[in-house]
Amino acid sequence: MVNKITVVGAGNVGATTAQRLAEKELARTVVLVDIQEGIPQGKGLDQWQSAPIEGFDSRVIGTNGYDESANSDIIVITAGIARKPGMSRDDLLNTNAGIVKQVSENIKTTSPNAILIVVSNPLDVMSYVAMKVTGFPRERVLGMAGVLDTARYRAFLAEALDVSVRDIQAMVLGGHGDTMVPLISYTSVSGIPITQLMSQSTLDGIVERTRTGGAEIVKHLKTGSAYYAPSAAAVQMCEAIVNDQKRILPCAAWLQGEYGMSDLFLGVPCKLGRKGLEQIIQVELTAAEKDALAKSADAVREPMAAVKL
Ligand code: NAI
Ligand code: 2OP
Repeated sequence: MVNKITVVGAGNVGATTAQRLAEKELARTVVLVDIQEGIPQGKGLDQWQSAPIEGFDSRVIGTNGYDESANSDIIVITAGIARKPGMSRDDLLNTNAGIVKQVSENIKTTSPNAILIVVSNPLDVMSYVAMKVTGFPRERVLGMAGVLDTARYRAFLAEALDVSVRDIQAMVLGGHGDTMVPLISYTSVSGIPITQLMSQSTLDGIVERTRTGGAEIVKHLKTGSAYYAPSAAAVQMCEAIVNDQKRILPCAAWLQGEYGMSDLFLGVPCKLGRKGLEQIIQVELTAAEKDALAKSADAVREPMAAVKL
């Protein structure tokens, strides 16, 4: 357990993240920050009142400012607007860049040693905004997307094969968008290569469904985007850091030469421990996977160049 984890944005993803953090007792205090008056206070109090029933001692506090969040160990940034049907993640660019900039300025002065986990979309560019504005080193700025995208891929594979999700090993790399790269060459079921268990056409269908997994949920919900799996993914990253687990998880990290690329956030296999990003693992890729990763990087660079800070 660490002393304090703050979640900025008390909407669907943020509030669910705070609840999951508290139920897992990952911090003594979980602080929920939002600009809407009363929302973080009400949700925080409600969650804290579930503590005697669920049996956790993490205190949840809601606030509109940053005083209570001062000196947080980890900050999860979920502030921003979410996608509506027909909107791409990049449609959110300018609005969310302004929000993440304002949030990051506050974090810089009140929690200068925090590890940041960015969730706001477009994810790879918002991670860049947070790193640029705070000036934090890359070890302390990570984006959450790969854990979610991989979870979707694993869930679809488990369903198609009628096996436990626990036995599906996989990784989805690249940017958090339609160009993401599910690594078929590293997808297995208890070590058995996926290509031995499934036809190429079924696998292609699952890869495509994974790439559009976020949009599928938006289409159902109509008024917002996914939050149960996204919050679970952000909390898995927090847990790896809090408990120094050295887990290898696909996260958006600032590349400095890895995979032959530099100066952008992209989803790659990362070792997460108490220091945050402890290592980027470079795996061998097929020619098609290398090509797909390069295309995904181009799709991240374009909105990144358009963002004004
Ligand atoms: P939401 O609309 O339910 O919540 C967003 C919250 O941010 C609202 O409560 C709003 O008042 C708050 N907010 C806005 N400006 C703020 C500011 N300056 N300071 C503090 N709080 C502020 O949206 P939801 O569903 O929680 O999604 C949040 C973000 O996360 C969206 O950008 C969404 O696209 C993104 N997302 C990213 C995922 C990923 O895989 N990286 C997955 C799911 C969502
Ligand atoms: C998702 O993938 C909207 O990025 C969000 O569900």
